[in-house]
Amino acid sequence: MPLDSLLTLDSVFYALHVLSALIWVGGMFFAWMILRPAAVSALQGPARLTLWLEVFRRFFQWVWLTIVLLPISGVAMLESRFAGFAGAPKSVQVMMGLYIAMLALFLRVQLLQLPQLRQAVSNEDWPAGASALGKIRRLVGFNLLLGLSLVAIAAARPNF
Ligand code: HEM
Repeated sequence: MPLDSLLTLDSVFYALHVLSALIWVGGMFFAWMILRPAAVSALQGPARLTLWLEVFRRFFQWVWLTIVLLPISGVAMLESRFAGFAGAPKSVQVMMGLYIAMLALFLRVQLLQLPQLRQAVSNEDWPAGASALGKIRRLVGFNLLLGLSLVAIAAARPNF
């Protein structure tokens, strides 16, 4: 069976898009709802801060990949499904807006708060580390809410 009768380019982009959303939003859900309370109950301050540095280093590599794949696959679907931006439904326009907001929050953590946390841990300045981690926790919590709302809107496709 020829490949193009099995899979269209649109379905490949759709799969990449949904997998990327799953990795980014699902990763934040796991970090916030499961790992955060588990780390609080199992680890003391210094060990907890070091754990989060390692977690962010690994998770953020995947987030960078999804940040690149989401707009590429999304714009490809805009072309194949709606003949470009002008024909896109409101739910997709909201999706693009929320993507920009999520990207801004992620960049704030990656470029501002994470270097502060790294610096505090290498100086063994635990109070400064705890304050940087607190800011990251709030920003990731907010980004998780945006991501969950975005996926709900994408799936429900409301007629605004
Ligand atoms: C520039 C950014 C983005 C663009 C251009 C874009 C575009 C699109 C398009 C065109 C669709 C197909 C809609 C349809 O056929 O009704 C779609 C679906 C979807 N998008 Fe996005 N998107 C973007 C960002 C995001 C982000 C950041 C997420 C989540 C983190 C996301 C999650 C989803 C999901 C879960 C679907 C599948 C909805 C379904 O079929 O039930 N998208 N997107």
